[in-house]
Amino acid sequence: ESGVVRRDRFSGGPARSFLSSLAADERIFEADLEVDRAHSVMLAEQGIVEDDTAGSILTALDAIEVDGHDSLPDGEDVHEAIETAVIERIGEAGGKMHTARSRNDEVATCIRYRLREDVLEALETTLALREALTAVAEAHTETIMPGYTHLQPAQPTTVAHWALSYEGAVRRDTERLLEAYERINESPLGGAAFAGTTFEIDRERTADLLGFDGIVENSMDASSSRDFLLETTQALSTHATTLSGIAEDLIIFANRGFVDLADDYSSTSSIMPQKKNPDTLELVRAVAGDAAGGVQGLTTTLKGLPRAYNRDLQRATTHAWETVDAVTEAGEVAAGAVATADWNEDALAAEAGDGFSTATGVADLLAANGLPFRTAHEMVASAAQRAAKTSGETASSAADGGGDYDALEAAAEDVLDEPLESYVDPGAVEDALDPAKSVASRDSQGGPAPEAVTPQIESARDALESH
Ligand code: ARG
Repeated sequence: ESGVVRRDRFSGGPARSFLSSLAADERIFEADLEVDRAHSVMLAEQGIVEDDTAGSILTALDAIEVDGHDSLPDGEDVHEAIETAVIERIGEAGGKMHTARSRNDEVATCIRYRLREDVLEALETTLALREALTAVAEAHTETIMPGYTHLQPAQPTTVAHWALSYEGAVRRDTERLLEAYERINESPLGGAAFAGTTFEIDRERTADLLGFDGIVENSMDASSSRDFLLETTQALSTHATTLSGIAEDLIIFANRGFVDLADDYSSTSSIMPQKKNPDTLELVRAVAGDAAGGVQGLTTTLKGLPRAYNRDLQRATTHAWETVDAVTEAGEVAAGAVATADWNEDALAAEAGDGFSTATGVADLLAANGLPFRTAHEMVASAAQRAAKTSGETASSAADGGGDYDALEAAAEDVLDEPLESYVDPGAVEDALDPAKSVASRDSQGGPAPEAVTPQIESARDALESH
């Protein structure tokens, strides 16, 4: 299948542009030149192509690189166009470059070569985000904030504890991408169309020249498999889902006045002059949709493809490029937004006890003093309802939370038939009702108490250094 013959056979029918991936292949232009170089060097070393010819091919490839992708002759794809350009420059001998390979192993090699670079860039953004989250944690181990479940006030925590909850998730995203990288980093070159070749090629040599860790051994697997694209896109989609959670939290926190986003990561309204909107974070949140769409597009394209090469694979590739571009950009923006946001400590502290968020601590205290936890739960729930009724709100939305001592006393008389003091020291109850003391008391491993957060910061820093 030489480029020359193919052009004679398919010279511009109506499906020509539909067939062609030349425009999209700009992404792998540099990669293809590197692959051509490595292959040509190997062919010469193996005595398959004369040194002189290989030398002229390399010179031609350099000139083609200088001219750039836009100067390539027409072609069904970048591989064919570069081959044609080589032949145009050095004559028919240029056709020797395609000895002992096919566009099928060639394109698979180019995709892996380029994707390595893109995944490294995506990895950098996960590190930047982890750095930003860890720095927030370091600065805010004592910054009390309301913690939520079901978006309702649940228990007081700290900004450090919140930030580290995402640092852990992003750390696993880094690990998943690193694992994907390892499997991207294997060379399919030399698999040929799928069935190997009669020439005495050296696949390890081209793998080495191109910086791959090894080869994809089976030649049919090498030329046809795209599970590395799926795995990478899935890892990116998982990361985008983590990013969307960070974005959503910050959008809500900005809405409540807990955090001020830097102007660089905000936008305004074209009509309402007072507006400062968290648009960048909304876009970060939306990228999770793009990434999930990329996984879906890729999966659907690959599903049920028979061995070996099918042209469907050409359209599989673009899903991966789009996903890696969108997620990398979103990761960079998220890291910047986190690094530059200003936490409003007073607003956070003022609301940390809202919705009787210290109730669990009071129940824990009663349980620690011998009352069965379920009974304590019942009693504190009754106090919460009682206080909410007084303030005319539901327990979890009451501004002062109904977490007052009086309500607890009344509930004790009612539910336990005993005064509260007979179960627990009043001072201890007051402490349990205090959001900052409530946080400080939850010092179990991984918990929000400042001394429990310190080792979490240390492991975040250790992991950051090792990645
Ligand atoms: N451009 C194609 C791709 O991206 C590679 C060409 C393989 N073409 C072929 N007819 N076997 O997958």
